[in-house]
Amino acid sequence: MTDSRSDEVSATLRKVWEEHTDESYRRDQSHWKGQGRWSDEKWEAVGQGTVKRLTRIFGPHRPHPWLRAAPVVLEWGPGGGSNLHALAPHATVLYGVDISQQNLQETERVLRMQHPQVDFHAILLRENPAEVLERVLQPVDIFVSTAVFQHFPSQQYGADVLNVVGRLCAKGCVGLIQIRFDNGNPKYTSKDFAEYERLHITATSYELSAFWDLCRAAGLRPVSIFDINTTNNYAYVAFTKG
Ligand SMILES: C[S@@+](CC[C@H](N)C(=O)[O-])C[C@H]1O[C@@H](n2cnc3c(N)ncnc32)[C@H](O)[C@@H]1O
Repeated sequence: MTDSRSDEVSATLRKVWEEHTDESYRRDQSHWKGQGRWSDEKWEAVGQGTVKRLTRIFGPHRPHPWLRAAPVVLEWGPGGGSNLHALAPHATVLYGVDISQQNLQETERVLRMQHPQVDFHAILLRENPAEVLERVLQPVDIFVSTAVFQHFPSQQYGADVLNVVGRLCAKGCVGLIQIRFDNGNPKYTSKDFAEYERLHITATSYELSAFWDLCRAAGLRPVSIFDINTTNNYAYVAFTKG
């Protein structure tokens, strides 16, 4: 089992997400607007999909708590910033946690251009997910992470991230995490970390019931697993905190 605190793990993650020799590939994999597969429309659709899913599960209208006046939003792994861009009109403070400085800079660029009113805090994760605890200054009302947990180096690392999220989220928060689920299909089962550079796209997956239990163990209250897609083994987990 990979230890989320090890220097070696962080160095390998950075090789892929920050220092990849093919910068076009890195930007495409990080979902940058206007790069690779990401036409403006496709890029916008990522964040709009996240808002739609949150709305579907938690309700559409103010004064529902998730759209209250000044929510604090945290995204783990913002990449090219589509989710934060879509959530910015609902928020005053946005946090983005990423292992790539370049991805944080791209998110910041997009937000500064289109939502100058929001207060964006970029948090560069160096080694251990727990570093984030002291960098987030308010309880989090909206947490999102899409297309990121599958890139974690191990299931334990994802559990470590969930524990941090459980500590940062406010009571009554809303959360949405996209995972790859493990149903025995070898393409999507978790891979040995030694293969990370080659297989980072499908590095880690979870049995759905095991992920539900990890959320509970982190002090979160999962409310739904939905949009289960058996073609690419994606599923969405919505949670709150009691
Ligand atoms: C596929 S992109 C997803 C971007 C965005 N969430 C979206 O859905 O468009 C993956 C992002 O996760 C980041 N990432 C990968 N491993 C990470 C880790 N251990 N902690 C934080 N961010 C990570 C990458 O740098 C990249 O920004």
